[in-house]
Amino acid sequence: MTAFPMSAERAPRNAITERRFRDALAQFATGVTIIAARGDEEDFVGFTAASFNSVSLDPPLIIWSLGRRSRSLAAFERATRYAVNVLAHDQVDLARRFSRPHADRFAGVRYQLGDAAAPLIEGCVAWLECRNHSRHPVGDHMLFIGEVETCACRSLPPLVWHDGRYHSDALRAGGANRG
Ligand SMILES: Cc1cc2nc3c(=O)[nH]c(=O)nc-3n(C[C@H](O)[C@H](O)[C@H](O)COP(=O)(O)O)c2cc1C
Repeated sequence: MTAFPMSAERAPRNAITERRFRDALAQFATGVTIIAARGDEEDFVGFTAASFNSVSLDPPLIIWSLGRRSRSLAAFERATRYAVNVLAHDQVDLARRFSRPHADRFAGVRYQLGDAAAPLIEGCVAWLECRNHSRHPVGDHMLFIGEVETCACRSLPPLVWHDGRYHSDALRAGGANRG
């Protein structure tokens, strides 16, 4: 990791290696979500996503991205609605399950179906049900913009992803400042 000052970072553009790019991005702490939709059959697709973010309050729009080689891409491209489940501090096992190959990621997971007919997973800190607004292929990912139709939340510490690690108790120690 390069220390401040930044002179070493002002290298020619081709010096931005994938490693350096990944390391820099890893310093941006995020929450962790599971984005889920009804699949083509009577099944569901879902995966762990940290790319979720807000876009607009009026209308209420959110954004996330999915790798174009992802197995669930085709199903999400066909889905008109989906759910964003924002994970709580004690849902690391779910985050791992939904980011790794698994015969049936939803097996044994407790959820309800909401208006979007997509799984709203029990124990999360927030749920947002979205209608697809638009999709945009950008680089090696597909950007999804969703219009939020319903949402709900609970006051619980969230799961945090930073530097390639889950941080379950980042906010429990009382160190959180309001933005
Ligand atoms: C914390 C975390 C966040 C992730 N965020 C994303 C993301 O935003 N977009 C993405 O395409 N993959 C992301 N991944 C990787 C996917 O969860 C993983 O590739 C998953 O297997 C994709 O599922 P699928 O191939 O069944 O579609 C993330 C993985 C982790 C551990």
